[in-house]
Amino acid sequence: MFNEDEDWNDEEEGQVLSKPALSNTKKASSGINVPLNDASVDLAVFCLSLMGTNLADFLAEANRVLKKRGVLKIAEVASRFDNVRNFITALSSLGFKMVSKDTENSHFYSFEFAKTGKAPENLKKVGLQLKPCVYKKR
Ligand SMILES: C[S@@+](CC[C@H](N)C(=O)[O-])C[C@H]1O[C@@H](n2cnc3c(N)ncnc32)[C@H](O)[C@@H]1O
Repeated sequence: MFNEDEDWNDEEEGQVLSKPALSNTKKASSGINVPLNDASVDLAVFCLSLMGTNLADFLAEANRVLKKRGVLKIAEVASRFDNVRNFITALSSLGFKMVSKDTENSHFYSFEFAKTGKAPENLKKVGLQLKPCVYKKR
């Protein structure tokens, strides 16, 4: 997490990042409340982080903070996918259109989506699931 007023403005390194608007307003229906305003970011990344069974809530929150046509990138463990087509269809129901996918790797799948519209209020109907991430003893 960025530390406000410290990490966003790194002038010593000659790099200035624009700080997104912070939200102090409504709470999302999912209970997930990323402190960013609606339609305030260009890119959301889930790297091996769709871990909760409520992953549709995570993605709906990403949809909320993304600008229209904003980019959603997902990288997940390949063995968690039963059916990639169903996953892409569920993402479509959440307001994302697939731009590209890479399912050639034996261990990890990656996807890029673009936000096309808002996520629905009722996320249960979306039926998005991934298999549990099982850690193997080596
Ligand atoms: C494989 S790590 C990936 C961490 C990070 N995204 C990265 O790419 O380095 C998975 C992370 O998900 C977290 N995690 C596991 N179950 C979770 C849950 N139900 N809700 C939220 N986070 C969870 C773990 O604590 C861990 O930090």
